[in-house]
Amino acid sequence: MKKGLTLLAVLLTLIGCNSQKKSQTEDDSVNNPKCLVIYYSQTGTTQKVAEELVRMLNADTLRIEAEQPYNGTYAETIERCKKEMGNEELPKLKPINTELEDYDVVFLGYPIWFGTYARPIASLLTEVDFAGKKVVPFCTFGSGGLETSIKDLKQAIPDAQIQTGYGIRNARIDKAPAEVERFLKESGYLTGEVEKLPDFSPQQPVTKEDISLFDMACGDYTYPLGTPVTVGKRQTAQGTDYQFTVQSKDNNDNPIEATIYVTVENGAKPEFTKVVR
Ligand SMILES: Cc1cc2nc3c(=O)[nH]c(=O)nc-3n(C[C@H](O)[C@H](O)[C@H](O)COP(=O)(O)O)c2cc1C
Repeated sequence: MKKGLTLLAVLLTLIGCNSQKKSQTEDDSVNNPKCLVIYYSQTGTTQKVAEELVRMLNADTLRIEAEQPYNGTYAETIERCKKEMGNEELPKLKPINTELEDYDVVFLGYPIWFGTYARPIASLLTEVDFAGKKVVPFCTFGSGGLETSIKDLKQAIPDAQIQTGYGIRNARIDKAPAEVERFLKESGYLTGEVEKLPDFSPQQPVTKEDISLFDMACGDYTYPLGTPVTVGKRQTAQGTDYQFTVQSKDNNDNPIEATIYVTVENGAKPEFTKVVR
């Protein structure tokens, strides 16, 4: 009987040890996840965001490269992509040496091309198994595309857990360090307080002043961004943010609507931060 009780006590102790050990490992990956920053960058802008992430997260990194690099001008790259898309052809990548199993979270970075992730990333998604992985998308763009690229990522790798992402206009890349830090704190990858931003006020018809502010922010962009119709506003510690509803036409002359975000930091020139289509 005494022998039986001793055996039971030993068993209970062993179970306790194991469960404690397991929860410690789980805690480690929750509180201190092992992160990989994997990205493609044609002209170096997305690379700057990747470098900030690597620095702040102390993460490993991997830059994706096409076997035949996209090293032409903007116009040449557009032409090459159109040809490839017409032939439903994806670029071949240089060999990728990484084991995703070694990581809890993968930060996946790319420039926006044609409203979605750049084509080398499309190749990557067919080569590497993202099933079950936590994936945090990040991107840079001329006007926008984070939201549409996330929609496409969810379709391309439905078994991955696609998280909230981060995107920045190439013209505002100098703001990336502060924005990336805020993003990582908001999503729990860094500790620290961030100012909680208020909601935008309800949309109201634009005034003359709103239109002139919109023109100052968007007027010198390469492509016309449409006509602002209504606007919501919010006050932050840095200044005022605007959420414009904008009307324009698509290539077939059908009316379309977009949301354009503009920020005016105290005393600075208005700048648009993204177009959401
Ligand atoms: C082929 C091509 C297509 C592009 N398409 C878009 C687009 O649809 N929307 C956009 O906002 N920017 C677009 N851009 C601009 C890039 O997203 C932007 O310049 C980006 O910051 C480049 O990042 P990188 O320096 O890391 O290559 C395109 C650029 C190229 C070369």
